[in-house]
Amino acid sequence: MPALKVHHIGYLVKKIEPAVRTFKALGYQIEKDTVRDEIRLADICFLRKDGYRIELVSPCSEASVVYGLLKKYKNCPYHICYETADFDSSFAALRKEGFLPIDTPTPAPALGGCEVVFMTHASLGMIELIRPT
Ligand code: NI
Repeated sequence: MPALKVHHIGYLVKKIEPAVRTFKALGYQIEKDTVRDEIRLADICFLRKDGYRIELVSPCSEASVVYGLLKKYKNCPYHICYETADFDSSFAALRKEGFLPIDTPTPAPALGGCEVVFMTHASLGMIELIRPT
């Protein structure tokens, strides 16, 4: 499998503003201001601390793809996102490893329009893979 590098940890939150305030109180800094992702119907904000990058994701509609997850998980980390120099090879290798895509590669407005795909594994849960631009 081509090398995967952790890009961010996706963190589901009920409300974006109080979550940003509270992460800031813990010493996180805003990397990118909140962006409304009109594809996923979610507000997204990137924060950084100690070399770690956290992506806050908060559904802004009951029609959001993450709304159901919020009901199940409340506020919590729910995916790790990886970047790879070779998207197609990594995607194929992950499929071989037992990861099933749950959508097709779709642009992520909060990541400058880079395509991302979400995959799940029975023994691991959800990951996200970024296609480099
Ligand atoms: Ni993500």
